[in-house]
Amino acid sequence: MVLLILPSIGLGKAGGQVASSLPRLGHDSSVGFDRLRCGVKTLLSEERLREGVDELARQVAAHYGDRPLTIVAVMTGSLVLLADLIRRLHMPIRVSLIQASSYRGGTEPGELHLRDDMMLDVRDRDVLVVDDIFDTGKTLEDVLICIQQMQPNSLSSAVLLHKEGRQVVSTQPDFVAFRIPDEFVVGYGLDYRDLYRNLPYLAVLEESDISAQSF
Ligand code: IMP
Ligand code: MG
Repeated sequence: MVLLILPSIGLGKAGGQVASSLPRLGHDSSVGFDRLRCGVKTLLSEERLREGVDELARQVAAHYGDRPLTIVAVMTGSLVLLADLIRRLHMPIRVSLIQASSYRGGTEPGELHLRDDMMLDVRDRDVLVVDDIFDTGKTLEDVLICIQQMQPNSLSSAVLLHKEGRQVVSTQPDFVAFRIPDEFVVGYGLDYRDLYRNLPYLAVLEESDISAQSF
């Protein structure tokens, strides 16, 4: 197992910074970017995300060197991380997708569904699974079990976020960019009801943000 990096985000340091003073989410269903920003608190700024992904890429590069790598991105939350991470890596890279969905439209996990029909053949390949967040850990564990059955040469995992105190599995990701407190976060690929993925920073979605929206 490869071991990790990275700057933890203390509970105290984390939130607090209000993203903007723009009006809160309203009833208009044509939600533009500025309206999406509204009322949410920044947990990780664009700059901190860049630094974290830089460091993540350095760790992955140090581990794999020039060996060809197949990256399996867990859709859909890892899309933004995937795009940023692969452009920082210089070994030959293949990108494969697997879809996992567990949040059926809210903030509590539901039954996990895996779709592997978009997977490349990973037999005898070095495989790195990339996901947005390690919360209970069930998704990553199931994805790793699924890919292990495809007989890769090696298998490791990288996540942008590791949410503290939520894990119910013994599996741990090999590379972690940030440790965050137990808050529901959105942005940089992470969603609430399929929205907010396009926020360029990571924000905490609070009860009041959820109740304020009606789209
Ligand atoms: P786990 O199976 O509980 O580890 O959940 C992993 C998946 O749940 C992630 O890939 C996300 O899609 C989703 N998830 C967990 N926590 C959050 C969150 O705070 N915001 C948005 N999505 C989350
Ligand atoms: Mg996900």
